[in-house]
This record gives sequence, structure tokens and C-alpha cells, in this order.
Amino acid sequence: TFADFKKLTAHAKDYGFVFQSSEIYDGLAAAYDYGPLGVLLKNNLKEYWWRSMVQLHENIVGLDASIFMHPKTWKASGHVDAFNDPLVDNKDSKKRFRADVLIEEQLDKIEGKMTKEIEKAAKRFGEAFDEAQFRATNPNVLRYAAEHETISKRLATAMTNGDMQELHQLIVDLGISDPDTGSKNWTEVRQFNLMFSTQLGNVAGEEGKLYLRPETAQGIFVNFLNVQKSTRQKLPFGIAQIGKAFRNEIVARQFIFRMREFEQMEMQFFIQPGTQQEWYAYWKETRMKWHLALGHPAEKLRFHDHDNLAHYADAAVDIQFDFPFGFKELEGIHSRTDFDLGAHQELSGKKMTYFDPERNESYVPYVLETSIGADRLFLATLSYALREEMVPGQDDPTNVRDVLALHPALAPIKVAILPLKRTEERIVKIAKDIFNDLRFRFDVQYDDTGSIGKLYRRQDAIGTPFCVTVDYDSIDDGTVTIRDRDTLQQERIKISELAAFIGPKVDM
Ligand code: GAP
Repeated sequence: TFADFKKLTAHAKDYGFVFQSSEIYDGLAAAYDYGPLGVLLKNNLKEYWWRSMVQLHENIVGLDASIFMHPKTWKASGHVDAFNDPLVDNKDSKKRFRADVLIEEQLDKIEGKMTKEIEKAAKRFGEAFDEAQFRATNPNVLRYAAEHETISKRLATAMTNGDMQELHQLIVDLGISDPDTGSKNWTEVRQFNLMFSTQLGNVAGEEGKLYLRPETAQGIFVNFLNVQKSTRQKLPFGIAQIGKAFRNEIVARQFIFRMREFEQMEMQFFIQPGTQQEWYAYWKETRMKWHLALGHPAEKLRFHDHDNLAHYADAAVDIQFDFPFGFKELEGIHSRTDFDLGAHQELSGKKMTYFDPERNESYVPYVLETSIGADRLFLATLSYALREEMVPGQDDPTNVRDVLALHPALAPIKVAILPLKRTEERIVKIAKDIFNDLRFRFDVQYDDTGSIGKLYRRQDAIGTPFCVTVDYDSIDDGTVTIRDRDTLQQERIKISELAAFIGPKVDM
């Protein structure tokens, strides 16, 4: 079975994947630190993304732009005026919430009631139950469905129009209360800009106001011509980047799902105007295939079309993942038209046009974007990989293990070297020699801190695909036992053949 959310966060901490930031000071909300194994796993995920984008596409190149950008960037991009969340404070508890999230939670409740009604009927009618017919005729279900539709529509319209009064009215109409205190004493709903700002040292006042980038994309847009000219790329071509982004999110407790400092992996694909539908379809399909190739179970992924388009997009879809708290956005695919390049051209007064030798004309390219959070990908990966299961091949049903069933290419540690007896010098010497040899090729751990059974369990829990055990036979014949994490099959293999055996199985 997949581990639940509480177990997952505890596991992440106990084994050194993710720690709360500034924990000794009771933590800083929505900020997290990656521990020794976490940083290895995250690097592997980023490497896998980078290779599939940059190494495997001759028309996609990389960039590492700075986090600070000229403040006009964020005026042009629309973030100063439009990158807002609707906020509401509870006057009694002094707690702050996102108005749209409060309303969405209400929608979830209605959906829950509807599901319960259907499940009850399914039990009552047994095999004779026809769900479609029940949905179409049962008065309670019809009432919930209508209520759900009305609220969804009002929410979507209010969000699209930025109608704060309507959001407030919805909160009142639905009788929403503070989830902790039950108080219904709300302030007006107001727009809250999500950008963090800071101040340049040598410029006083408003002029020196600087933003921490809320997306990496703008570093790519402003460098579009630098990259195109220096690499002599022709359209269509893409620029890929991995880097930190910052948003002053009003957060629910969702671990590394929604953070104030996080990492994005974005690719902007520059195309001829008019070809955006074709490329939108292409990248939708390509990105979904990528997730499947990474090992994400198909039933945990789905597309979700946007109800409210971001200020820059003419079409947008999310790839959602079934996180322990339900299906939520993992990646966004956006058709951004010439919104960004056009806006930068206008505000900077610098041409952002590309001369198309085929069409023999100049134009501002359109952009198709794929954008995924490295931290969300990390959480998705942990949440499907961490399982509690009966130890394979053993009859005893109480013999369970935690296993992190990561794709071997993603595993933080590829192979663990375990001496069967740490007091036997000859065994220790062989084990250390293997460790010192393999560490040049793989991330390897040497561990002699417990019984072999305990050491195996620990390696299972951190996702190590192979364990090598050195025993008395190794002294005589130069062979070791290699154990497979998933099947628990053990093989006897020559020490000199270890690297060649493991290599192809863990390479990306
Ligand atoms: N350039 C487009 C853009 O930034 P977005 O949908 O706002 O689009 C893209 O963000 C991805 O970045 C999301 O799908 C998510 O994976 C990640 N992301 C966004 N906000 C995040 C946050 N507060 N914490 C962690 N990841 C976040």
C-alpha cells in the first residue's frame, strides 16, 4: 500500500530527505531544507529533466539567469498588476485565508456528500445498482450537483473578473467559517500581490525596489535574442532553465507542495505565430510521456484544463498528480502567445523580433511553455514510491517492510556495501576496497552499523536498488552477494564484475 501523508513526512525527516527550515526556532512556515539523501534525489530528478530537454533536443538550449531582474521586467510581465491572490482575514482569529481556497473547500464538501449518497445506494442495491441512472434521477444527488455547478460558475466568473465583492458574497452565502474557531466574522476580500520585494543598496525609495522572481520564465524572455543569436538557432527552438522562484503564498499545511521559496524547471519554446495549437498538443503529449517514463503510475496522472487562464495565457492545461491529499497541479503547459516578448518590446523599446528566413519576414515569436516545480515532482515521486509491503517471498504476514520503490536511476544511493562481520579484518578490507572503487562511478554507502537484516531494511527504506554483502566466501573466491531491492533475489557475482553489472541498471 502507498504510505499516508503523515508517514511520508515523518519518513522524509527520519531518513534525511527533507527537514523543516529553521526547525530549532520552531520552523519557518512553507520553507524546507533538503537533507543528504533529499539533495541527491532532487539532483537526480533535475538531471533527468535537463537531459530529456537539453541533451535530447538539438533545438533546446540551457540558461541560468539571475534571480534579481530589472524591476521593469515585472511591470511588463504583468506580475506587478495581476499576480494576486484574493485574501480574506478572519477578524476574530486574525488568521488569513485565500478566499478562493475557502470556497473550493466548500465545493469539495458538497462533492463528498454526493459521493456518500452514491456509495450508500450502491450498497443498498448491490449488483443491480446503475450509477448513471441514479445520478440522473436521485433528488439529493441532483440538488448537490446543481449547487456545485452554481458555486463553481460564480467562483470562476469572480476569479476571471477579479470581482472581490462577489467572492465575499460567496463566503457569506455559503456560511463559511474559520476552520479552527468557527467564527464567521470576515473582512472584505482584497487582492494580495504574491511577489516578495527587497531594496537595492544604492538607490533610495520606490526606485530601488527589487523583486525576487516569482517565475524563472522572465529570465528566458529577456534573453531571447541573446540566446538565439549566440546559438544561431532557428524557430522553433526552446530555452530551458532550472532555478529558484519566490512567492508570498498564503499556505495550507501541505509540506513541500506549496512553498514560499521553491525551484522551477521551465522550458520556453519559441514558435511561429499560428502554430501554437499544434505545439500545445505536442508538448502536452510529450510531457505526459515523460512522467510515465519516470515511473509515475498512469492512474496517478491526469490532465486538467484551466477554468481561469493566467493573465499571460490563451490556453493552459495542468498535469495533475494524485498526491496524498488528492489530485493537484504538478506541471503547467501554457500557450503564452507573444504576450511576454511583446510586452518587453513595448516597455524596453528594444526590438524582440526574429527574422524568419523561410517566410522572409520579421515577427515577435509566440511561446509555448512547460513549467514544473522540482519540489512538487520530488513530493510526487516520494508519495508513489514509498510503500509498506509484506516482505516478498516470505510467508509470515507480520513481516512487513518500508520500501522506497524509486526508479534505480533516481535512487539517491545506487549500491550499499555491507560487511557481514565487521570484526573480521579480511572481510572489512575487501568491503572497503569495493566501496573505494565503486564510489568513483556511483553514489555508494558503506554500512556496518547493525545486523545484516537491519542494514537491508534501512537500504530498502531509502530506495537503494542494490546491496552488496561481503562474507567469508569472498575471502576465498573473490565473489560477493548482490541483492535486488524489489525482488530480494540474491546472486553471487565476481567483485571485478560489479560495476559492469550495476552500471546499465542505474544509468539514466
Ligand atoms: N512560468 C509559468 C508558471 O510559473 P505556475 O503554474 O504558476 O506557472 C509552474 O507554476 C509550476 O511551478 C507549478 O506547476 C508547480 O509545480 C510549481 N509551483 C508553483 N508555485 C509553487 C509553490 N508555491 N511551491 C512549490 N511549487 C510551486
